[in-house]
Amino acid sequence: MSDCLIEANQLSKTYQMGKVGVSALKKASFTIQKGSFTAIIGTSGSGKSTLLNLLGLIDHPTDGSLTFKGLNVNQLSNYEQTKIRAENIGFIFQSFHLVPVMNILDNVMLQLSFSKKDKKQRKKTAIQALNSVGLGTYLQHYPADLSGGQRQRVSIARALSKDPDLILADEPTGSLDSKSGAGVLDIFKALHKRGKTIIIVTHDLEIASIANQQLVLKDGELLETNTNDVEQLKKYYYR
Ligand SMILES: Nc1ncnc2c1ncn2[C@@H]1O[C@H](COP(=O)(O)OP(=O)(O)OP(=O)(O)O)[C@@H](O)[C@H]1O
Ligand SMILES: [Mg+2]
Repeated sequence: MSDCLIEANQLSKTYQMGKVGVSALKKASFTIQKGSFTAIIGTSGSGKSTLLNLLGLIDHPTDGSLTFKGLNVNQLSNYEQTKIRAENIGFIFQSFHLVPVMNILDNVMLQLSFSKKDKKQRKKTAIQALNSVGLGTYLQHYPADLSGGQRQRVSIARALSKDPDLILADEPTGSLDSKSGAGVLDIFKALHKRGKTIIIVTHDLEIASIANQQLVLKDGELLETNTNDVEQLKKYYYR
């Protein structure tokens, strides 16, 4: 299908802990359409970050296959995967992953190191991205000088700076108060409107219910690939 961005087929991940294998994702099959908004939900330890890391080509599946824009990711070299990631995917981590010894402008510019732009253009692009999340007057500030919500917005600006087709976010509102969380959610809604494909891990069922698709995980198993009925989602969550 031409509007399919990602296809996961029996996607599995087992972490090896010494002699014990931890089965974090078990044979998940689903598709992600271009321009869609997908929420991944499930209790702690259900495999949400594991799945997101596989979709972001940050980690490799131990079984099953993943197709990205028609390319079978398993058959690509690490270099090719890195290139796809650098050009197509913006990742927003649960714990920000900012570089503490760099100001926020340099943090965002760092993301653009692989781009063909010269330094002046990279600076301009980074400033635009920080402006778009309301941090245009904080360029010289260091991550430690910012609130949690502001740090999360820096990490969003960093992901947006390269104008990726796909934006992956791991609990982007999880550590924020409700007002900062609403601000961050508005940014995602606006990005979706602009045609970006968004996949977001969230504990917030209201956020999940406004998505086009819900992937519900329980103990590494994909229970459901689509319901935006909050009451139904609650059942999955609390059972
Ligand atoms: N690097 C790792 N090595 C070994 N086990 C891991 C590793 N990462 C995750 N796991 C295990 O895999 C399972 C799924 O973890 P994952 O981080 O995907 O859960 P999660 O749904 O994101 O949880 P949370 O909501 O707490 O962030 C858990 O049992 C976890 O302990
Ligand atoms: Mg997680």
